[in-house]
Amino acid sequence: MVYEALASRYDSMIYNRCGNSGVKLPAISLGLWHNFGGSDSYENGRAMLRKAFDLGITHFDLANNYGPPPGSAEEMFGKMLHSDFRPYRDEMIISTKAGYRMWPGPYGEWGSKKNLIASLDQSLKRMGLEYVDIFYHHRPDPDTPLEETMAALDLIVRQGKALYVGISNYKPEETRKAAQILKRLGTPCLIHQPNYSMINRWIEGGLQDVLEEEGIGSIVFSPLEKGILTDRYLQGIAPDSRAAGQSKFLRPEDISEARVEIARQLNQLAAERGQKLSQMALAWVLRGGRVTSALIGASKVSQIEDAVGSLYHLEFTSEELTRIDEIIMKANQSL
Ligand SMILES: NC(=O)c1ccc[n+]([C@@H]2O[C@H](COP(=O)([O-])OP(=O)(O)OC[C@H]3O[C@@H](n4cnc5c(N)ncnc54)[C@H](OP(=O)(O)O)[C@@H]3O)[C@@H](O)[C@H]2O)c1
Repeated sequence: MVYEALASRYDSMIYNRCGNSGVKLPAISLGLWHNFGGSDSYENGRAMLRKAFDLGITHFDLANNYGPPPGSAEEMFGKMLHSDFRPYRDEMIISTKAGYRMWPGPYGEWGSKKNLIASLDQSLKRMGLEYVDIFYHHRPDPDTPLEETMAALDLIVRQGKALYVGISNYKPEETRKAAQILKRLGTPCLIHQPNYSMINRWIEGGLQDVLEEEGIGSIVFSPLEKGILTDRYLQGIAPDSRAAGQSKFLRPEDISEARVEIARQLNQLAAERGQKLSQMALAWVLRGGRVTSALIGASKVSQIEDAVGSLYHLEFTSEELTRIDEIIMKANQSL
């Protein structure tokens, strides 16, 4: 069936300005780290992309190494883009990244100009695109001078291969330095992509202040803690869940009794708010307007519907916020 996007797609999504830039991102963005690889169902991935776009999700996040095998998520996305989304390219913000190991030898990872330029060229080929909207350096490189990595990002924008650049997993002081170099070069840093959730709050210890001071937006990954902050594991590890699958990043042993207990108690609070736990977890990262976009993953169309449903109840009372803090603090003390 030929895909035609819903006319109502912009009716209920919230769009937030990204730092001091002119570009707005949807409050919910979709990442293709899992479930879009070479051995995943093409039809399921395609249904998720269509549903996301129909619900106003305009931002899709990739990286050179997403799959498995590495590169296959960009290939799959490229196919879907050309079969379904060609008329909508100018309504989409597509990002990719380089920095993790992608090919053998000394140039296949980290932050050299050699790696970044070659990797983006490969990504563009895999997706069949002339440019991406955002290109990220995926992780800080302890060996390459920051000036070289930032100059490569600047060059990429000047070459027209990316419209904006960002950094991911950089700590507060590295972020400030990177932002200042980019500013001097004339290519401001658009966005930072750190992890953040009710149980992983490291960005509150300085990074968020740096981002605000430097006028940089933030898109937070794994806001559902890869599924732990949902009802996924309340009844055990389902065979179709990420923890039961091949992901190296969520193993059955990560679904500890302590984490399930946190989820159980938060689930109770979410029910009192009239939300699912996954929805409360997304509302929580978006509270107060410090985060531009919550970057989710999904394995089913219904999870994307759930995520967008969180936008109908974003406010928290101070009692609710205190209860969340107490649940997490108590669990941390017993670990
Ligand atoms: N920059 C970086 O270094 C970095 C690192 C990691 C991720 N990322 C980006 O962030 C994106 C999101 O990461 P993530 O997938 O870990 O995020 P997440 O949103 O924390 O976890 C997504 C997983 O949670 C489960 N889930 C989602 N909605 C649910 C619902 N309503 N009910 C029950 N379970 C639900 C699904 O797992 P099941 O498969 O079990 O259904 C889904 O695959 C990635 O795709 C990538 O773009 C970036």
